[in-house]
Amino acid sequence: MNITLKQMSIFLLLWALTATCQDKCVVKPDAKPRVRVNATTAEGKKQLDLYAKGVKAMHGRAATDPTSWSYQAAMHGTYTTPVQPLWNTCQHGTYFFLSWHRMYIYFFEQLVRGASDPAFNLPYWDYDNPTSSTDPRLQLPAEFRNTSSPLYVSERNPSMNAGGYLPAGDVETNYSMSRMMFTCGATNWASSFGGKQVPSPIHFSSGFGALESLPHNAVHDDVGGWMSDPNTAAQDPIFWLHHANIDRLWDAWEKLDSGRTNNWDATWLDQKFYFFNEKKQQCYLTARDILDDAKQLGYTYENEKVPVPPTKVSCPPKKVTATTPRLLAELPPEKRTTLGAAPINVDIPVKETGLTPKKLTAAASPQRLVLTLDDIQFEKNPAVGYEIYLNLPKGEQPNYKSPYYAGTVHFFGLKHSREENHDAQLQFDVTDVVARLQKLGQWKDHVTVTYVPRGPTEPGKVAAAAEAKVAGTATIGRISLSEAD
Ligand code: C2O
Repeated sequence: MNITLKQMSIFLLLWALTATCQDKCVVKPDAKPRVRVNATTAEGKKQLDLYAKGVKAMHGRAATDPTSWSYQAAMHGTYTTPVQPLWNTCQHGTYFFLSWHRMYIYFFEQLVRGASDPAFNLPYWDYDNPTSSTDPRLQLPAEFRNTSSPLYVSERNPSMNAGGYLPAGDVETNYSMSRMMFTCGATNWASSFGGKQVPSPIHFSSGFGALESLPHNAVHDDVGGWMSDPNTAAQDPIFWLHHANIDRLWDAWEKLDSGRTNNWDATWLDQKFYFFNEKKQQCYLTARDILDDAKQLGYTYENEKVPVPPTKVSCPPKKVTATTPRLLAELPPEKRTTLGAAPINVDIPVKETGLTPKKLTAAASPQRLVLTLDDIQFEKNPAVGYEIYLNLPKGEQPNYKSPYYAGTVHFFGLKHSREENHDAQLQFDVTDVVARLQKLGQWKDHVTVTYVPRGPTEPGKVAAAAEAKVAGTATIGRISLSEAD
């Protein structure tokens, strides 16, 4: 057999290429962690100037260059074909959500630094836990609304670009911070902080952990435009500051401690995810490389504090016997619910009476009650949220701080009519709501779900009681209330 020198060198070249693809990324953290600051501080404004410079430079690069703006955004998701290496790799609706996005924005930050200034550190959008519905932190930072800045995107919800405010209920953190466990396994993800346990990566699933639902998905829908669709979201420069904040809230949750548990498994810890480094080489990291962002990645956040939530949400206790979960109330799939611009009340027929199990309030580790919305369909993301209230009394103003509030329906990352394979189910852990209503004597054998549309508040207006501009209509199939299995 004759192997020519040319064949030999081609073989060697191929070998070298594959070897590069399999390399672990070299991460050299600064000894003193860099600080990712709040974008609206004086230092934040300086950082935004550097960011604008980097965004502009990256826009100027060829679409085939993995360090270009469009290529980086397409790694998250894109409608563009043919698909290039590492496109469409974002992880949604599973417990890989937080680890993948931490890596994604880490590499992006390096690329912006290279395109702009060595002093650049990705700032965060500090929208959480506002003091009022017109807290300026709920507005897009001014630079993003300046039409002559590279940070401006005209596709957003016009009200946000005009200085409108995110709905306050979408960004309070009690919902996520109350969660005690990173994952509750392959079921009951709504009771977890970080999402559904899965055996391998999934681009889109709907096993959202609490933080991914609120504020993550919510802010995507509220900003609207590109941000409301995972296949375009990362093209909007605000995407990256939103994700810096989500990453910061992960740190904040860990700092709350008092029993909060990162119950990761080897699958989560060892999964390799690939990115491009500044040299345009593909390389991978695993979650083990990013657990401690200060030590391993060399950055920290200016402020990693959030209010301590009033309640604690644990995973459901493991059942000793394998019984099917008790179905308490159900609206069958053929009675589809339509969500539009006005609030609606929907009665959910009770299947089993005795909706007041003592164990709910008495037990230290109560059985969890879960509200499940199945087969959610929409052509176009409505780009608002629907606050959910249980047994809201007639005449009572819906308010996310009231005892009746159970969570908010958001659409980002759910099945889209143009795609086929992912599920479109949302779950809400309503155990605490039911317990509160029991105490108020408002939890009898009837279940009414009220959906209240809520979009950004327009500048100069007070938060609308209950009427929202929706970008599309959504419908829900089956609605059920059951004990967690
Ligand atoms: Cu991968 Cu905020 O999205």
